[in-house]
Amino acid sequence: MNKIDSVIVIESSTIRETMERINKSGIRIVFIVNENKKLLGVATDGDIRRALLSGKDFNTPIKKIMTINPITAPKSTPATELLEIMLKKDIRGIPIIDNEGILIDIALLSELRTIPLSSPDITHKEIEAINQVLSTPFLSIGPKIKEFEEKIANYTGTKYAIAVNSGTSGLHLCIRSLDIKDGDEVITSPFSFIASANCILFERAKPVFVDIDKNTLCIDVNKIEEKITKKTKAILVVDIFGHPADWDELERIAKKYKLYLIEDSAEALGSEHKGKKCGSLGSLGVFAFYPNKQIVTAEGGMVVTNDEKIAKLCQSMRNQGRDEGDAWLSHSRLGYNYRMSELSAALGVVQMKRIDEMLEKRQRVANFYNERLSKIEGIKIPYIAPNVKMSWFVYVIRLDDKRFLKEDRDQIIKELRARGINCRDYFPPIHLEPFYVKMFGYKKGSFPLTEKVSGLTIALPFYNNLTEKEINYISNSLDNIIDRFKRE
Ligand SMILES: Cc1ncc(COP(=O)(O)O)c(C=O)c1O
Repeated sequence: MNKIDSVIVIESSTIRETMERINKSGIRIVFIVNENKKLLGVATDGDIRRALLSGKDFNTPIKKIMTINPITAPKSTPATELLEIMLKKDIRGIPIIDNEGILIDIALLSELRTIPLSSPDITHKEIEAINQVLSTPFLSIGPKIKEFEEKIANYTGTKYAIAVNSGTSGLHLCIRSLDIKDGDEVITSPFSFIASANCILFERAKPVFVDIDKNTLCIDVNKIEEKITKKTKAILVVDIFGHPADWDELERIAKKYKLYLIEDSAEALGSEHKGKKCGSLGSLGVFAFYPNKQIVTAEGGMVVTNDEKIAKLCQSMRNQGRDEGDAWLSHSRLGYNYRMSELSAALGVVQMKRIDEMLEKRQRVANFYNERLSKIEGIKIPYIAPNVKMSWFVYVIRLDDKRFLKEDRDQIIKELRARGINCRDYFPPIHLEPFYVKMFGYKKGSFPLTEKVSGLTIALPFYNNLTEKEINYISNSLDNIIDRFKRE
């Protein structure tokens, strides 16, 4: 079905037929035309709701309740002008008509204005740094890697930093360097990006999931000890959405049972727990620099540790198993090509020089959101524990579980997207991914809190240069949309 056909109905349609069209398109506005596609009127789902409440039935012709003389525009109207009208009048679409009043196109707000979920903050400094690398012979294994590693080690207060080509590669090296293998168990959270559990499977060890804390959404430290067995080697802790877990308790448990603590701080560069930087809180930690992260290197990651042996192993394994001093074709152990390119490292160096400025910008965006959204009933803004300094990765709201169902959340996301607001459910439970279900027999209800939270989260657009105006638009849209979903 083409774009126009998906948002029009002919004048003889009933309210029921119109509702079906609105449901299918997800756009919540419909244009009523005659057989020659001459525009006769417009109706929104709000108009229909009001008509039904006032006693009209589903068989009432839509013509009886439509608004006649809707706002229209001629073909040559510039997009900026159309956008201006829609924002001013708070409407979602403008029909474009010819001289005879025939509908020839429809300008939709969602198509004219799209606010991305994330967007990297790249300045001329990053571009110059990349150009400089391109004019040297060192596109890989060069000086920028060392410089970037030093910057991250200094920033996190760790002795060693090993740059790799993704956060996932970094996590795999953590598992390998601790000699976690077939038959071993690693305790971790099912509420995360899937790589934090997959890296355990890479070595045929078993991820043993523990449900999450209802506030921080990190692993629930009170439920860990009951899952520890003789096979448990480590706890892989995810600082989810940039919020550190309960590291005091994790340290106590790790010490008592002699377990390694692996910190997946892919989302938490710059966050602190009791004044100590994330990444440095376990035996070894990992950062990731995909374009939605606090700092970006296009693709990239970093392992950090204070343990020299682990550092040397990671350095060797990322570089095809070569030890320091090995010839190019000598390989002391099994290794991988997990090297970061000099181009990525050069990006990382500049981004690290700007990190304070960038984290401040992210804090400012989070403050705007907190202020606007805390006033909206039915929305929970992100929780920050005492003793935590937040470095914002994403801005994830939760809908009130007493008023909303997962299906409501999915529809709200659909409607936000129809208004050009890119948003996402963050994260679906890992244990319910089909291959986890198949391998371990997990089912709905295995980790109730993770499932409940997963069904009610919405990650809103979040990046350094998101403007106050855009945040107002997002907040107002959310307020209008969720108003219709509240259940008492
Ligand atoms: C918690 C977590 N772990 C691991 C990763 C993997 O990082 P990458 O995409 O760089 O492989 C991510 C990336 O989003 C993440 O959020």
